[in-house]
Amino acid sequence: MNALRRLAIVLVLLPWGLVQANPTAPGQAAIATAHPMATAAGREVLEAGGNAFDAAVAITAALAVVEPYSSGLGGGGFYLLHAAQSGRDVMLDARERAPGRASRDMYLDADGNPQPKLSVDGALAAGIPGIPAALDHLAAKYGALPLSRTLDPAIRAAREGFAVTAMYRRLAGFRESLLAADPASRAIFLDDGELPAIGHVIRQPELAETLEHIALEGRDGFYQGDQAGRLVDGVRKAGGIWCRSDLAGYRVVERAPVVSHFRGFTVVSAAPPSSGGVALAEILNTYARLERRTGGLDDASALGLHYRIEAMRRAYRDRADYLGDPDYVDMPLDRLTSTDYAAGLAVGISATEATRSSTLAAVVTEPEGPHTTHFSVMDAQGNYVAATLSINYPFGAGVTVPGTGVLLNDEMDDFSQKPGVANVYGLIGAEANAVAPGKRPLSSMSPTFVRNDDLVGVLGTPGGSRIITMVLGGVLAATRGEPVADWVAEPRIHHQYLPDRVEVEADRLTEAQRAELESMGHRIETQSSFGNMQAVAWWRAEGRIEAASDPRGEGEAIVFVPEKP
Ligand code: DON
Repeated sequence: MNALRRLAIVLVLLPWGLVQANPTAPGQAAIATAHPMATAAGREVLEAGGNAFDAAVAITAALAVVEPYSSGLGGGGFYLLHAAQSGRDVMLDARERAPGRASRDMYLDADGNPQPKLSVDGALAAGIPGIPAALDHLAAKYGALPLSRTLDPAIRAAREGFAVTAMYRRLAGFRESLLAADPASRAIFLDDGELPAIGHVIRQPELAETLEHIALEGRDGFYQGDQAGRLVDGVRKAGGIWCRSDLAGYRVVERAPVVSHFRGFTVVSAAPPSSGGVALAEILNTYARLERRTGGLDDASALGLHYRIEAMRRAYRDRADYLGDPDYVDMPLDRLTSTDYAAGLAVGISATEATRSSTLAAVVTEPEGPHTTHFSVMDAQGNYVAATLSINYPFGAGVTVPGTGVLLNDEMDDFSQKPGVANVYGLIGAEANAVAPGKRPLSSMSPTFVRNDDLVGVLGTPGGSRIITMVLGGVLAATRGEPVADWVAEPRIHHQYLPDRVEVEADRLTEAQRAELESMGHRIETQSSFGNMQAVAWWRAEGRIEAASDPRGEGEAIVFVPEKP
């Protein structure tokens, strides 16, 4: 064999040989986020020798700049982390906390009637942010690069600006009067008080400075010193109740994720104060039981959908009844996530008839909002992160703290204002999720991993109470071996116990399926499309990496070989 031919064979064999020699390393990286500039920020950091956790920092900060309606330094979220070296999964809880001066009835008037706007619009709606602490924690404990490097793409984006998209316009339009009423928000997010045109450039120099403080000083650059002073002053002037001690006392918490098993896959998802992992486990366990009873289920058949709806109904009832902040309430988590409990639930599910939610034990659920973001990232070494981040409603509370560029969240609305009273979204809450000082409001955000010997899937989506059932759809698609593009595109179906109706996207059901479900007694409502799922997958046997961004959104998914893996 001549030398040239030998070299060619070595070159062809080399990448495959590397994949085979180390099955824990994909050898390529994958990113899916809700905005092309956030995907580019993640790529830049991976190309510079960062790992998936550094990329998560860069993406979080970039999303805080370019998707101000979804997440931000003023918000919170959950990061599900997998470290290749230790093989460990961890949930980083960066959920907002109620300020120390918050109280159970703070959103009720003197007669005990809820004042729903107070927990949605304005500074009283804002919890103490968790994202800056998460950036610091990710960098210090898991990252390979300093914050000064990983925050750089976001700092540039804040200074140089980003172009208004159709989604920006739609969501700013939804919150236009609120943004217009707050001088700092008006100056940044509107154009001379008007809804900006597509292509208009939004620049945020003060947010760039706040990011620079964090880049230099870590968490102290936000929670202590001058920056903390500005935040507290701004919030107090806008009618809020933050104190310096609330900021100084904020901590992220590492928690064990909720793990369940389904069709030979391990599903790893968010623990309380998210309801996601518990509800997902309960639904999967119940569905598996019904699948066994039937001797196999086609997920897309009318019977499969009926069983899925009934499992959802029961999981959302329990979510409402039992779940809250684990640091404040005792929850029967082992029972709720056990297969025995699901077997009991399955006994009460008919093959031919919908259960009326009103016939299940009386309950309450809790409020959600209509915007948030998710990203999924995997590096070439096999570290990966699923993160769902939020400021709750589009543009959060609508208030930007002068001198900081920080837009406040309205996550306090995720608490139940009063047991049994529905919020603007028709959801009601229970005692476990009542407001208390320092407490984290119950969330539905569900960053999730789905794995077996062949697959590592990383997924999640925004969408309020519907997050959990969308993630369920993605998990089911993964267990059917479908490509990630199908996980994110999968037509949606949702039931949340109350209101007692099935919400579907227009292309979810055939006419015949709809008729069959209605004949079982299901009330079906077609809704405009929802969610913005971002997923990456590594099919180990084939050495194939995939990434997909929901076709409903404006995101971007990429797969590439980093220069310095
Ligand atoms: O934590 C929660 O469950 C909510 N604050 C999330 C809101 C949301 O996903 C809205 N998205 N479209």
